[in-house]
Amino acid sequence: MNIIERKVWLITGVSKGLGRELAKQVADKGDIVVGTVRNAQDKADFEKILGAKAFIIDLSNTEQISSLVDAIINQYGQIDVLVNNAGYGAFGMIEEFSENEIIHQFKVNVIAVWKLCQAVLPHMREKGGGTIIQISSRVGILAGVGNGIYASSKFALEGMRESLKQEVEPFGIKVMLAELGALRTDFFGTSVKYAENKLPLYFDTAGDIRSNTKSLHGKQSGDPVKVAEAIIEAVDKDVPTFRLPLTTGTIDAMKTKIAEYQNLIDLYEHKARNVEFF
Ligand SMILES: NC(=O)c1ccc[n+]([C@@H]2O[C@H](COP(=O)([O-])OP(=O)(O)OC[C@H]3O[C@@H](n4cnc5c(N)ncnc54)[C@H](OP(=O)(O)O)[C@@H]3O)[C@@H](O)[C@H]2O)c1
Repeated sequence: MNIIERKVWLITGVSKGLGRELAKQVADKGDIVVGTVRNAQDKADFEKILGAKAFIIDLSNTEQISSLVDAIINQYGQIDVLVNNAGYGAFGMIEEFSENEIIHQFKVNVIAVWKLCQAVLPHMREKGGGTIIQISSRVGILAGVGNGIYASSKFALEGMRESLKQEVEPFGIKVMLAELGALRTDFFGTSVKYAENKLPLYFDTAGDIRSNTKSLHGKQSGDPVKVAEAIIEAVDKDVPTFRLPLTTGTIDAMKTKIAEYQNLIDLYEHKARNVEFF
Protein backbone atom coordinates (compact mmCIF):
# COMPACT_ATOMS: atom_id res chain seq x y z
CA MET A 1 0.00 0.00 0.00
CA ASN A 2 1.54 3.33 -0.88
CA ILE A 3 1.49 6.31 1.46
CA ILE A 4 -1.35 8.06 -0.42
CA GLU A 5 -3.67 5.07 0.07
CA ARG A 6 -2.90 4.75 3.78
CA LYS A 7 -5.37 6.56 5.96
CA VAL A 8 -4.15 8.32 9.10
CA TRP A 9 -6.33 7.40 12.10
CA LEU A 10 -6.23 9.41 15.32
CA ILE A 11 -7.66 7.20 18.06
CA THR A 12 -7.95 8.54 21.61
CA GLY A 13 -7.41 6.22 24.58
CA VAL A 14 -5.22 3.45 23.11
CA SER A 15 -3.66 2.27 26.39
CA LYS A 16 -6.18 -0.58 26.68
CA GLY A 17 -9.72 -1.69 25.89
CA LEU A 18 -11.54 -0.91 22.67
CA GLY A 19 -9.11 1.85 21.67
CA ARG A 20 -6.12 -0.50 21.91
CA GLU A 21 -7.91 -3.20 19.91
CA LEU A 22 -9.01 -0.75 17.25
CA ALA A 23 -5.47 0.62 16.98
CA LYS A 24 -4.07 -2.89 16.60
CA GLN A 25 -6.50 -3.83 13.84
CA VAL A 26 -6.03 -0.53 11.98
CA ALA A 27 -2.22 -0.97 12.12
CA ASP A 28 -2.54 -4.63 11.01
CA LYS A 29 -4.49 -3.64 7.92
CA GLY A 30 -1.77 -1.18 6.93
CA ASP A 31 -3.20 2.21 7.84
CA ILE A 32 -1.30 4.69 10.01
CA VAL A 33 -2.35 4.90 13.66
CA VAL A 34 -1.70 7.79 15.98
CA GLY A 35 -3.00 7.24 19.50
CA THR A 36 -3.33 9.10 22.76
CA VAL A 37 -2.35 7.77 26.18
CA ARG A 38 -1.96 9.36 29.59
CA ASN A 39 1.54 8.38 30.70
CA ALA A 40 5.06 7.58 29.49
CA GLN A 41 4.82 3.87 30.33
CA ASP A 42 1.67 3.41 28.19
CA LYS A 43 3.29 5.42 25.39
CA ALA A 44 6.40 3.23 25.38
CA ASP A 45 4.29 0.07 25.58
CA PHE A 46 1.97 1.14 22.74
CA GLU A 47 4.82 2.27 20.48
CA LYS A 48 6.82 -0.94 21.08
CA ILE A 49 3.94 -3.35 20.52
CA LEU A 50 2.20 -1.60 17.64
CA GLY A 51 5.10 0.27 16.06
CA ALA A 52 2.80 3.31 15.99
CA LYS A 53 3.09 6.70 17.62
CA ALA A 54 1.31 7.77 20.79
CA PHE A 55 0.95 11.28 22.18
CA ILE A 56 0.55 11.87 25.90
CA ILE A 57 -2.51 13.85 26.95
CA ASP A 58 -5.06 13.73 29.73
CA LEU A 59 -8.16 14.78 27.84
CA SER A 60 -9.61 16.55 30.87
CA ASN A 61 -6.93 19.15 30.03
CA THR A 62 -9.05 20.33 27.14
CA GLU A 63 -6.90 23.42 26.55
CA GLN A 64 -4.11 21.12 25.26
CA ILE A 65 -6.20 19.59 22.50
CA SER A 66 -5.70 22.04 19.64
CA SER A 67 -1.88 21.89 20.00
CA LEU A 68 -2.08 18.07 20.07
CA VAL A 69 -3.92 18.10 16.73
CA ASP A 70 -1.49 20.70 15.30
CA ALA A 71 1.47 18.47 16.29
CA ILE A 72 -0.12 15.44 14.59
CA ILE A 73 -0.92 17.39 11.42
CA ASN A 74 2.67 18.74 11.36
CA GLN A 75 4.04 15.23 11.57
CA TYR A 76 1.59 13.28 9.38
CA GLY A 77 0.14 15.97 7.12
CA GLN A 78 -3.45 14.82 7.60
CA ILE A 79 -6.00 13.06 9.80
CA ASP A 80 -8.45 10.97 7.78
CA VAL A 81 -10.30 9.28 10.62
CA LEU A 82 -10.79 10.61 14.14
CA VAL A 83 -12.07 8.09 16.67
CA ASN A 84 -13.22 9.75 19.88
CA ASN A 85 -12.85 6.61 21.98
CA ALA A 86 -11.30 7.70 25.30
CA GLY A 87 -13.81 7.98 28.08
CA TYR A 88 -14.96 6.55 31.37
CA GLY A 89 -18.15 5.99 33.30
CA ALA A 90 -19.02 8.00 36.41
CA PHE A 91 -21.48 5.85 38.34
CA GLY A 92 -23.70 6.61 41.30
CA MET A 93 -27.11 8.11 42.00
CA ILE A 94 -27.64 11.59 40.54
CA GLU A 95 -28.08 12.96 44.08
CA GLU A 96 -24.69 11.61 45.16
CA PHE A 97 -22.52 13.50 42.68
CA SER A 98 -20.51 16.64 43.36
CA GLU A 99 -20.32 19.39 40.76
CA ASN A 100 -16.61 18.69 40.21
CA GLU A 101 -17.26 15.00 39.53
CA ILE A 102 -19.86 15.92 36.92
CA ILE A 103 -17.62 18.55 35.33
CA HIS A 104 -14.79 16.02 35.03
CA GLN A 105 -17.10 13.44 33.41
CA PHE A 106 -18.31 15.99 30.89
CA LYS A 107 -14.82 17.36 30.20
CA VAL A 108 -13.49 13.94 29.23
CA ASN A 109 -16.58 12.44 27.56
CA VAL A 110 -18.04 15.55 25.88
CA ILE A 111 -15.92 18.73 25.86
CA ALA A 112 -12.76 16.89 24.76
CA VAL A 113 -14.74 15.24 21.96
CA TRP A 114 -16.12 18.59 20.83
CA LYS A 115 -12.62 20.17 20.94
CA LEU A 116 -11.10 17.32 18.95
CA CYS A 117 -13.82 17.69 16.32
CA GLN A 118 -13.31 21.45 16.23
CA ALA A 119 -9.54 21.00 15.81
CA VAL A 120 -9.65 18.37 13.02
CA LEU A 121 -12.52 19.81 10.96
CA PRO A 122 -10.53 22.60 9.21
CA HIS A 123 -7.93 20.01 8.12
CA MET A 124 -10.57 17.54 6.91
CA ARG A 125 -12.37 20.31 5.04
CA GLU A 126 -9.13 21.43 3.40
CA LYS A 127 -8.41 17.96 2.06
CA GLY A 128 -12.03 17.43 1.01
CA GLY A 129 -13.24 14.84 3.49
CA GLY A 130 -12.74 12.62 6.49
CA THR A 131 -14.58 10.49 9.01
CA ILE A 132 -15.31 11.20 12.67
CA ILE A 133 -16.43 8.35 14.89
CA GLN A 134 -17.90 9.02 18.31
CA ILE A 135 -17.97 6.09 20.69
CA SER A 136 -21.34 6.22 22.39
CA SER A 137 -23.22 3.68 24.43
CA ARG A 138 -26.54 1.93 24.81
CA VAL A 139 -27.02 4.24 27.79
CA GLY A 140 -26.85 7.12 25.29
CA ILE A 141 -30.19 5.70 24.12
CA LEU A 142 -31.68 4.47 27.38
CA ALA A 143 -30.37 5.47 30.81
CA GLY A 144 -30.88 3.46 33.97
CA VAL A 145 -30.45 3.65 37.73
CA GLY A 146 -26.94 4.68 38.75
CA ASN A 147 -25.65 5.62 35.29
CA GLY A 148 -27.42 8.95 34.81
CA ILE A 149 -24.29 11.14 34.73
CA TYR A 150 -22.41 8.83 32.38
CA ALA A 151 -25.58 8.41 30.28
CA SER A 152 -26.10 12.16 30.02
CA SER A 153 -22.55 12.52 28.69
CA LYS A 154 -23.35 9.94 26.00
CA PHE A 155 -26.77 11.53 25.29
CA ALA A 156 -24.78 14.74 24.70
CA LEU A 157 -22.66 12.93 22.10
CA GLU A 158 -25.82 11.66 20.41
CA GLY A 159 -27.14 15.21 20.03
CA MET A 160 -23.77 16.56 18.93
CA ARG A 161 -23.48 13.89 16.25
CA GLU A 162 -26.94 14.54 14.86
CA SER A 163 -26.18 18.23 14.31
CA LEU A 164 -22.55 17.78 13.30
CA LYS A 165 -23.45 15.20 10.66
CA GLN A 166 -25.80 17.63 8.95
CA GLU A 167 -23.39 20.55 9.30
CA VAL A 168 -20.27 18.91 7.83
CA GLU A 169 -21.71 16.41 5.35
CA PRO A 170 -21.70 19.10 2.61
CA PHE A 171 -17.88 19.21 3.02
CA GLY A 172 -17.56 15.45 2.47
CA ILE A 173 -17.01 14.75 6.18
CA LYS A 174 -18.85 11.81 7.70
CA VAL A 175 -19.82 11.57 11.35
CA MET A 176 -20.62 8.15 12.73
CA LEU A 177 -21.71 7.12 16.20
CA ALA A 178 -20.99 3.62 17.46
CA GLU A 179 -23.54 2.69 20.11
CA LEU A 180 -22.14 -0.09 22.28
CA GLY A 181 -23.50 -2.26 25.04
CA ALA A 182 -21.33 -3.78 27.76
CA LEU A 183 -17.89 -4.73 26.42
CA ARG A 184 -15.34 -6.89 28.22
CA THR A 185 -12.70 -4.19 28.75
CA ASP A 186 -11.34 -2.40 31.82
CA PHE A 187 -14.43 -0.13 31.89
CA PHE A 188 -15.75 -1.63 35.15
CA GLY A 189 -12.24 -2.56 36.34
CA THR A 190 -9.83 0.23 37.27
CA SER A 191 -11.46 2.79 34.93
CA VAL A 192 -14.89 3.28 36.50
CA LYS A 193 -15.27 6.20 38.94
CA TYR A 194 -17.96 6.22 41.61
CA ALA A 195 -19.52 9.27 43.22
CA GLU A 196 -17.54 9.82 46.42
CA ASN A 197 -20.62 10.72 48.44
CA LYS A 198 -22.43 7.44 49.08
CA LEU A 199 -26.08 7.63 50.19
CA PRO A 200 -26.91 4.17 51.63
CA LEU A 201 -30.65 4.98 51.61
CA TYR A 202 -30.60 4.03 47.92
CA PHE A 203 -29.46 0.48 48.74
CA ASP A 204 -33.06 -0.49 49.59
CA THR A 205 -34.46 0.83 46.31
CA ALA A 206 -31.74 0.72 43.67
CA GLY A 207 -29.40 -1.78 45.27
CA ASP A 208 -25.66 -1.23 45.65
CA ILE A 209 -24.66 0.22 42.27
CA ARG A 210 -20.96 0.06 43.21
CA SER A 211 -20.75 -3.65 43.92
CA ASN A 212 -23.33 -4.49 41.23
CA THR A 213 -21.27 -2.83 38.49
CA LYS A 214 -17.95 -4.14 39.86
CA SER A 215 -19.35 -7.67 39.72
CA LEU A 216 -19.95 -7.22 35.97
CA HIS A 217 -16.22 -6.77 35.35
CA GLY A 218 -14.89 -9.55 33.14
CA LYS A 219 -18.37 -10.96 32.49
CA GLN A 220 -19.65 -8.47 29.89
CA SER A 221 -20.95 -10.20 26.76
CA GLY A 222 -19.61 -7.70 24.19
CA ASP A 223 -16.34 -8.64 22.47
CA PRO A 224 -14.10 -5.61 21.78
CA VAL A 225 -12.31 -7.52 19.00
CA LYS A 226 -15.56 -7.98 17.04
CA VAL A 227 -16.69 -4.43 17.82
CA ALA A 228 -13.40 -3.02 16.45
CA GLU A 229 -13.81 -5.17 13.30
CA ALA A 230 -17.34 -3.81 12.79
CA ILE A 231 -16.20 -0.19 13.19
CA ILE A 232 -13.34 -0.62 10.70
CA GLU A 233 -15.66 -2.36 8.25
CA ALA A 234 -18.15 0.52 8.53
CA VAL A 235 -15.40 3.06 7.76
CA ASP A 236 -13.86 1.04 4.91
CA LYS A 237 -17.11 -0.01 3.28
CA ASP A 238 -18.57 3.46 3.65
CA VAL A 239 -21.79 2.04 5.08
CA PRO A 240 -24.78 4.30 4.52
CA THR A 241 -25.77 4.37 8.19
CA PHE A 242 -24.48 7.02 10.55
CA ARG A 243 -25.53 5.13 13.66
CA LEU A 244 -23.79 1.86 14.23
CA PRO A 245 -25.64 -0.17 16.87
CA LEU A 246 -23.44 -2.98 18.18
CA THR A 247 -24.24 -5.61 20.83
CA THR A 248 -27.53 -7.16 21.86
CA GLY A 249 -27.90 -4.68 24.71
CA THR A 250 -27.99 -1.78 22.24
CA ILE A 251 -30.68 -3.35 20.06
CA ASP A 252 -32.76 -4.14 23.17
CA ALA A 253 -32.35 -0.53 24.40
CA MET A 254 -33.51 0.74 20.99
CA LYS A 255 -36.57 -1.52 21.07
CA THR A 256 -37.50 -0.39 24.59
CA LYS A 257 -37.11 3.25 23.55
CA ILE A 258 -39.24 2.80 20.45
CA ALA A 259 -41.99 1.16 22.54
CA GLU A 260 -41.76 4.01 25.07
CA TYR A 261 -42.08 6.65 22.32
CA GLN A 262 -44.93 4.76 20.64
CA ASN A 263 -46.77 4.64 23.94
CA LEU A 264 -46.29 8.40 24.37
CA ILE A 265 -47.49 9.08 20.83
CA ASP A 266 -50.59 6.96 21.46
CA LEU A 267 -51.30 8.80 24.72
CA TYR A 268 -50.41 12.36 23.75
CA GLU A 269 -50.57 12.85 20.00
CA HIS A 270 -53.99 14.48 20.11
CA LYS A 271 -53.07 16.79 23.01
CA ALA A 272 -49.66 17.60 21.52
CA ARG A 273 -51.19 18.73 18.24
CA ASN A 274 -53.72 20.92 20.05
CA VAL A 275 -51.40 23.28 21.94
CA GLU A 276 -50.53 25.31 18.85
CA PHE A 277 -51.99 28.53 17.40
CA PHE A 278 -54.57 27.68 14.80
N1 LIG B 1 -16.86 -1.19 27.99
C1 LIG B 1 -18.15 -0.89 27.88
O1 LIG B 1 -19.03 -1.58 28.42
C2 LIG B 1 -18.57 0.29 27.05
C3 LIG B 1 -19.90 0.35 26.61
C4 LIG B 1 -20.31 1.44 25.84
C5 LIG B 1 -19.39 2.43 25.52
N2 LIG B 1 -18.11 2.34 25.97
C6 LIG B 1 -17.19 3.42 25.62
O2 LIG B 1 -16.10 2.87 24.94
C7 LIG B 1 -14.97 3.75 25.08
C8 LIG B 1 -13.75 2.92 25.45
O3 LIG B 1 -13.94 2.34 26.72
P1 LIG B 1 -13.39 0.88 27.07
O4 LIG B 1 -14.55 0.01 27.25
O5 LIG B 1 -12.33 0.47 26.13
O6 LIG B 1 -12.80 1.18 28.54
P2 LIG B 1 -11.30 1.12 29.12
O7 LIG B 1 -10.73 -0.24 28.91
O8 LIG B 1 -11.44 1.63 30.50
O9 LIG B 1 -10.47 2.16 28.22
C9 LIG B 1 -10.74 3.54 28.31
C10 LIG B 1 -9.67 4.34 27.61
O10 LIG B 1 -9.97 5.75 27.76
C11 LIG B 1 -8.82 6.38 28.34
N3 LIG B 1 -9.18 7.52 29.18
C12 LIG B 1 -10.02 7.54 30.24
N4 LIG B 1 -10.03 8.75 30.81
C13 LIG B 1 -9.17 9.52 30.09
C14 LIG B 1 -8.72 10.86 30.20
N5 LIG B 1 -9.11 11.69 31.18
N6 LIG B 1 -7.83 11.32 29.28
C15 LIG B 1 -7.37 10.51 28.32
N7 LIG B 1 -7.73 9.22 28.18
C16 LIG B 1 -8.63 8.74 29.06
C17 LIG B 1 -8.16 5.30 29.16
O11 LIG B 1 -6.81 5.67 29.46
P3 LIG B 1 -6.09 5.18 30.85
O12 LIG B 1 -5.57 3.80 30.60
O13 LIG B 1 -5.02 6.18 31.05
O14 LIG B 1 -7.14 5.19 31.93
C18 LIG B 1 -8.28 4.12 28.20
O15 LIG B 1 -7.31 4.19 27.20
C19 LIG B 1 -15.37 4.78 26.14
O16 LIG B 1 -15.77 5.97 25.50
C20 LIG B 1 -16.58 4.15 26.81
O17 LIG B 1 -17.45 5.11 27.35
C21 LIG B 1 -17.68 1.29 26.72
